[in-house]
Amino acid sequence: MSTSLTKNQKLLQWIEEITKLCKPASVHWCDGSQAEYDRLCEEMVKHGTFTRLNPKTRPGSFLARSHASDVARVEDRTYICAENKQDAGLTNNWSDPAAMRQTLNKLFDGCMAGRTLYVIPFSMGPIGSPIAKVGIEITDSAYVVANMRIMTRMGKAALDALGDGDFIPCVHSVGAPLKPGQADVPWPCEPDPAKKYIVHFPQDPAIWSYGSGYGGNALLGKKCLALRIASVLARKEGWMAEHMLILALTSPAGKKYYVAAAFPSACGKTNLAMMQPSIPGWTVRCLGDDIAWIRLGADGRLYAMNPEYGFFGVAPGTSQSSNPNAMATITKNSIFTNVVLTPDGDVWWEDMGVAAPAKGIDWEGQEWTQASGRKGAHPNARFTAPASQCPVIDPDWENPEGVPISAFLFGGRRPSTIPLVNEAFDWEHGVFMGSSTGSETTAAALGQAGVLRRDPFAMLPFCGYNMADYFAHWLSFGQKTDRNKLPKVFFVNWFRKNAHGKWLWPGYGENSRILKWICERVDGTGKAVRTPIGWLPTPEGLDLSGINIPTADLQELLAVDREGWNKEADNIAEYYAKFGERLPAALRQQLTSLKERLAVG
Ligand code: GTP
Ligand code: SPV
Ligand code: MN
Repeated sequence: MSTSLTKNQKLLQWIEEITKLCKPASVHWCDGSQAEYDRLCEEMVKHGTFTRLNPKTRPGSFLARSHASDVARVEDRTYICAENKQDAGLTNNWSDPAAMRQTLNKLFDGCMAGRTLYVIPFSMGPIGSPIAKVGIEITDSAYVVANMRIMTRMGKAALDALGDGDFIPCVHSVGAPLKPGQADVPWPCEPDPAKKYIVHFPQDPAIWSYGSGYGGNALLGKKCLALRIASVLARKEGWMAEHMLILALTSPAGKKYYVAAAFPSACGKTNLAMMQPSIPGWTVRCLGDDIAWIRLGADGRLYAMNPEYGFFGVAPGTSQSSNPNAMATITKNSIFTNVVLTPDGDVWWEDMGVAAPAKGIDWEGQEWTQASGRKGAHPNARFTAPASQCPVIDPDWENPEGVPISAFLFGGRRPSTIPLVNEAFDWEHGVFMGSSTGSETTAAALGQAGVLRRDPFAMLPFCGYNMADYFAHWLSFGQKTDRNKLPKVFFVNWFRKNAHGKWLWPGYGENSRILKWICERVDGTGKAVRTPIGWLPTPEGLDLSGINIPTADLQELLAVDREGWNKEADNIAEYYAKFGERLPAALRQQLTSLKERLAVG
């Protein structure tokens, strides 16, 4: 695609400037066409970056294996370069913008030598919609181009929508310049963790990413733009950018409810977003599995829209029984990263629900058998697939207006204390629940998995400004509209374990039983009991017909564990203390009230 397709002077100048800095061998403007995609994929196959999967069983699909050092988001290398450190807040890494610009200028100088610089115009949100944002990602990775074409609305149409308007500049390099004659590797990256940089300049706004080709580190429309930068814009402009799935639930009576849910990374958003309800007569439709942009509608309700175009979902654990709709989505035109390659040219991963191949090639490219005891797929192996291929995609998923939300869900991996479901008393209590969300860490970020940490609103790694101000922004919606029009807020926990470490709740499709109760609560009919921590369903309040949950387990799932909650409250107090004076008083008040209710009983 030639540069004559845009007359946007600012864009042309910026491309020239970055080209001078990065010194690529060539420049390619992506038009987003199928022909361009096919050509890039073919080149990656020749190069060893991609393996074409069996066209009979997985048409139009490819396998990629990353470098072993480049398998997940790098939170400790992610920076928010606000002018003032306070505006990044204590949950973010901060660096002085001027100093960081110097660091980046050195790193990016000549970093694309021997490579092609791709220009990717993309739109987060339906092209041309008033709340869509156009970004331009510059990258030296064809893998990133291919993934961006699935994950965003990319190419000429985005450039046309931009016209001579403003765009969010995103610069990405794998950080592996080639010397003349130097052979390339299938997955170039900067292997030294200390030399990777995922950097945000919220004031500009601008994004710079160096050294990684994986997921949210490199597909800059996703976490960097649609969450970190968008959260800053949203606060300024009075809307919300959230780490939330969006789903539509229809009751047997034909009533449709829209629900948005924030769970930390690899904690069940994709699963819930496209679940197959186990209870008869209910249907779920998916609008998004990771990000929601939410604004106040003219009618005073909150409307949510998915800015993405595809799914970048966790592969391990995805099976016909856990997520049949994801399995159907990824039957074609998909990219699989870090899974097992089977001898017949298909893919396999742990808990896929089918027998492992007698002998496969694991995510590190080694011959592999299950008997080896090693994992064949990396725990953060992912599929990239077009949202349009999801059999239960909602007809309104591309509606630029979004859909009116009836309930917000927060949740996390909590083996103890936190009940199966718990409804907030009011908006402020709901914001308290969101702000105090805790969860065990997962393989979605580099670092130790299984450690309990606070992940407020599932936004700990994604809030682009001071977290205390973000809490205040959430609270402010309680004043912005008729409170009865705000979604009801619930906390869910599919991850309770018994004394032997077994799940107490079957989860997945059975979570529809909880969704049903939530809809009933929205309608004011659901049976609930008021407890110190919120409204809990009575045992009869949940539709448990057709499954057999031992009574003792159900009691444990729905109990208020006073000792556990006292500890929880103390732990939240410790967490809140870190924010000092910046923590909104309403939240401190919520914590005090919780403690009082727990003391009284
Ligand atoms: P990101 O894409 O990283 O933001 O994550 P996500 O929230 O979309 O994660 P996803 O839905 O892919 O969650 C994957 C993990 O959660 C897998 O290990 C699943 O097995 C597990 N999981 C999802 N739903 C349930 C559930 O209802 N019960 C249990 N026990 N595990 C679940
Ligand atoms: C997450 O980690 O929350 C993801 C995957 O959704 S990534 O896009 O890599 O951040
Ligand atoms: Mn996510």
